[in-house]
Amino acid sequence: PADAHRDAEGRLVIGGVDVETLAAQHGTPLYVLSEADFRARARSFREAFSAAFAPEAEVDVFYAGKAFLSTHVAGWAVQEGLCVDTASGGELALALAGGVPPEKIGLHGNNKSDAEIQRALDAGIGRIIADSLDELERISRLAVAAGTRAPVMLRLTPGVHASTHEYIATAHEDQKFGLSLTPSAGAPSTDADGTPSTPANPYLGSPAWTAASRALQLPGVELRGLHAHIGSQIFEPAGFELAAQKLITFLASLHSAYGVELPELDLGGGHGIAYTEADTPRHPESIAAALAATVKQACAEHALRVPRISIEPGRAIVGPAGVTLYRVGVQKDVQVDAPDGSTTSRRYVAVDGGMSDNARGVLYDADYSAVLASRRVTGDHALSRIVGKHCESGDIVVRNVYLPTATARDDLLAVPATGAYCHSLSSNYNYLTRPAVVAVADGASQVLIRRETEQEMLGRDTGFAAG
Ligand code: LLP
Repeated sequence: PADAHRDAEGRLVIGGVDVETLAAQHGTPLYVLSEADFRARARSFREAFSAAFAPEAEVDVFYAGKAFLSTHVAGWAVQEGLCVDTASGGELALALAGGVPPEKIGLHGNNKSDAEIQRALDAGIGRIIADSLDELERISRLAVAAGTRAPVMLRLTPGVHASTHEYIATAHEDQKFGLSLTPSAGAPSTDADGTPSTPANPYLGSPAWTAASRALQLPGVELRGLHAHIGSQIFEPAGFELAAQKLITFLASLHSAYGVELPELDLGGGHGIAYTEADTPRHPESIAAALAATVKQACAEHALRVPRISIEPGRAIVGPAGVTLYRVGVQKDVQVDAPDGSTTSRRYVAVDGGMSDNARGVLYDADYSAVLASRRVTGDHALSRIVGKHCESGDIVVRNVYLPTATARDDLLAVPATGAYCHSLSSNYNYLTRPAVVAVADGASQVLIRRETEQEMLGRDTGFAAG
């Protein structure tokens, strides 16, 4: 976080609280979130995108709660002028519990249940992002039964490959999300409305066109716009720009076929952050400026008004605001073969958490950095690998980092950029309790989510009764 520094003893201080105090008060492993850093990043997305699209269009920034959500964080997002994007009934419940005004909530998901849709309708949320034709029909049916019309965005897959790890690239064709712009093989040559196929409309017969045509007819659906999310951990604006151009071309086709100009366009999240020094993300201003220029130009070319724009950053707001603190336990020096045939040694530094509090290494080969946080040590550094305490050799938190050779048992290590997708992907693997999340600000810490207890875990077990 921006508000981290070392005190006179060399201890890391975050939000005005030093790490030993945090560890003594809340235990380890511990997720620490800088409230000021979170708020500043939320603001910078809102300001950068609003400024770039002004005066043609207004911008809504939806904080993607899947990255990390708690009632406090939802409240901070709203106070900073953001909306909140949810991806399940549970996230929706959390956002509502955090006091997010329903009209500022969006609901995503590729397999929403009727119960989840019903919940969204009952709460009167601002938008449901529909992912399939099947879902559109169900939304309409449930909305009609409830005597309302649901505000709906359609999630399309513009076929843009974000240059990122395969598992987090979502807009190419062969995956489960959204509606493709490519006509299906053997697709009928007229759409649901009977509009004949002409070379001027390349989308006829595509799942996206079929769904959009249907959405315009359904009595319980108010089609508000189009959505695309092209992937995650994206540094360059080009992918967002290409996706935007494709969606705008699609909007233009809808306009010429049906005379409707959909008022909204959501360009998703996926803005990248620095996990290690090798990562060089751009400032939101730079992404926003490039994207706004492209959107304005594409709309002008198609003689469309610039629609209201939304984006859904999660990681880029909460990721850098978070740090995980661990206590050092066992250390081992292990011989490893160097590429030149010689042997060298690597220090394995085991900490009191691991893949249960940070699954990203195991899931995505994600890399992190780390620092010795409890004191300043000068002198030699050793090539180290920070590993967890789970029964898997892949349980690696930081692959390669030079830590002071003097790093010892009970020292604290800090792993930055763990605010996103660490707590939210955490588990009880090996029956470890999930760590607490504390916020730091102005020299004080506040528990946002308390540490899980062993009793809570065991309480879910119904209990074997002998005899
Ligand atoms: N909007 C939609 C529709 C999404 O699917 C996602 C992420 C976001 C926004 C937010 O993306 P962000 O700005 O946070 O990158 N667990 C993976 C990331 C999965 C992302 C899923 N969708 C990870 O830890 O890298």
